[in-house]
Amino acid sequence: MRNSSRGAVDPFIVMDVMAAAARAEAQGRHIIHMEVGQPGTAAPVGARQALTHAMETGSLGYTMALGLPALRDRISQLYKDWYGLTVDPARIIITPGASGAFILAYTALFDTGDRIGIGEPCYPSYRQILKALDLATVGIQTLAKNRFQPVPAQLTGLDLAGLMVASPANPSGTMLSHSALQGLIQTCHDMDATFISDEIYHGIEYEAKAISALQISDDVCVINSFSKYFSMTGWRVGWMVVPDDQVRQVERLAQNMFICAPHAAQVTALAAMECDGELQENLAVYKENRQLMLDGLQASRGSPLRMGHSMSMPMSANSQMTALPLRQKSWIRQAWLSRQVLILIPYAVRR
Ligand SMILES: Cc1ncc(COP(=O)(O)O)c(C=O)c1O
Repeated sequence: MRNSSRGAVDPFIVMDVMAAAARAEAQGRHIIHMEVGQPGTAAPVGARQALTHAMETGSLGYTMALGLPALRDRISQLYKDWYGLTVDPARIIITPGASGAFILAYTALFDTGDRIGIGEPCYPSYRQILKALDLATVGIQTLAKNRFQPVPAQLTGLDLAGLMVASPANPSGTMLSHSALQGLIQTCHDMDATFISDEIYHGIEYEAKAISALQISDDVCVINSFSKYFSMTGWRVGWMVVPDDQVRQVERLAQNMFICAPHAAQVTALAAMECDGELQENLAVYKENRQLMLDGLQASRGSPLRMGHSMSMPMSANSQMTALPLRQKSWIRQAWLSRQVLILIPYAVRR
């Protein structure tokens, strides 16, 4: 059978590692799972209870393509609570994870062959999804001195139709300050390039609050998810915020591509937004893990413990370490104390 050249994307290596680990586990090997960046915890208790109730009382059929109105309203409230922003719920679209939002955004905003900038290293699927949609990826090599984020001067002459940025970023964990984000957004506006902000790690902050691109401009596309802070990776639910005049275009695509995000996941997500106590407890565990890792890495300097790759985690004040597994403390401690080799895999392969 024929297949497409645009479909010949690279594998998402962590998913291959996950499958290999599962095979080893099935053979009886004991695996400490650190391959995927996801919370070791389930969706919050209150969220799972809400889903049980919804399953017993409703049909959980299709929702509107844009998502459950109550969830869109509640996310609007989150923008008020987290950033002091008023965001019209009409601009909020519920998606099958941030991953589904990338497909919707790239398809809604760009045409075949358009050039989209990504700072490298970055979350590797950006490049592969762009390729699958026949868009041209322009890799921008980021530098340690810029905290592994692109800077406006690097955008000159690239003829970009869009720029994709994440803050906190994966794998570096670094965040863009208000002025750095503003500089990038302004440069994109000047170049008539669309700014897309992946804000999936917002909420998982240790030393400073992450800045949303929406605090700077409404003329941006923001993508977020229930996967990380809300501890709901497998539920496949996220959201995007787009300018008013983009909503109908995204809606038409969502209707045809996905019909809607999973109804059960939307119900669970809505209730998860009321479970801040439990989510903050999770965060306290990540904080301890992070400190343990920072202390251990610091102590290992000059010791026989060798790093296979240059660290993807700058040891600067705002470093987030979100790219590292957010698993139970005991697992990290176990690996650390037993002096097993910790392999920190950079997610992005430079081409
Ligand atoms: C930066 C970044 N964006 C997006 C995703 C995918 O998110 P989702 O589970 O919402 O599809 C990940 C997953 O690790 C990620 O690290």
